[in-house]
Amino acid sequence: MARGDETAMVTGATSGLGLQFAEQLAQRGFGLALVARDDARLREVQADLISRYALPVEIIPADLVTHEGVSAVEARIAGRPLRVLVNNAGFGLKQPFDRATIDEEEKHLDIHVRTPMRLMHAALPAMLNRGTGSIINVASVSAFTPRGTYGAVKSWVVSLSRWANNQYRPRGVQVTAVCPGFVHTEFHQRLGASLDDIPSWMWLDAGAVVATALRDAGRGRAVSIPSLRYRALVSASRIVPSSLSQRFAARGR
Ligand SMILES: NC(=O)c1ccc[n+]([C@@H]2O[C@H](COP(=O)([O-])OP(=O)(O)OC[C@H]3O[C@@H](n4cnc5c(N)ncnc54)[C@H](OP(=O)(O)O)[C@@H]3O)[C@@H](O)[C@H]2O)c1
Repeated sequence: MARGDETAMVTGATSGLGLQFAEQLAQRGFGLALVARDDARLREVQADLISRYALPVEIIPADLVTHEGVSAVEARIAGRPLRVLVNNAGFGLKQPFDRATIDEEEKHLDIHVRTPMRLMHAALPAMLNRGTGSIINVASVSAFTPRGTYGAVKSWVVSLSRWANNQYRPRGVQVTAVCPGFVHTEFHQRLGASLDDIPSWMWLDAGAVVATALRDAGRGRAVSIPSLRYRALVSASRIVPSSLSQRFAARGR
């Protein structure tokens, strides 16, 4: 396979984990199809990656909480098969469930559940036909603790990925849920969340998270929890009462 012959699509590719996925997939020689809302920022990322890696980089400006946005991305997937799909785009909500509006909650559900489900459904048939493919769904360690609708949607992502990996891995398609803890990205800043009470040891580097995620996906793992400390926390959360893990998880947002 020549460099750039195979394409990796990354949603939410303009910052944080998505930008790192784009970078590290380009380092592995993949052509890229990058999705986010901010057209100008997508163009900057495109120009930068083309200049450094000399690979094809397409951009698809789309709002993934709208039907039109998701349809545009599905149309691109139908046009030419992907080798890798990274469902990464996402955001949190500023308010807890009782204070957020139901429209905000619905958009949050869409970006974390409806959109990755639709894009996975669009990408899978061609991957299965070719007998090769990798789907990486960015979840969170919040999937393992009661944490409002954010924890609930991320649990859905982990559950679907576990099932899909068992189902499709024998046919050449790995599905991996990536479950990071706190990562330095724009996620919390966009929320305007105070992070003063988050100890420094709980923060992860986006590049290290993505390197672990790609390594685990390459090994066909259904779930990737980057860093030993978060693997230990997830193991502990299975044995402590949920009221206690909920109090711990309530730090930050
Ligand atoms: N940071 C953490 O601590 C952490 C921990 C665990 C899991 N995660 C998960 O990691 C994923 C990536 O988040 P991040 O931390 O990298 O955050 P980030 O730096 O804020 O990046 C979010 C990306 O998603 C895009 N995006 C947001 N809303 C979108 C929409 N409606 N349509 C299309 N694209 C949209 C953004 O670009 P535009 O604004 O241009 O659309 C941006 O490229 C999320 O699924 C998040 O839940 C994050």
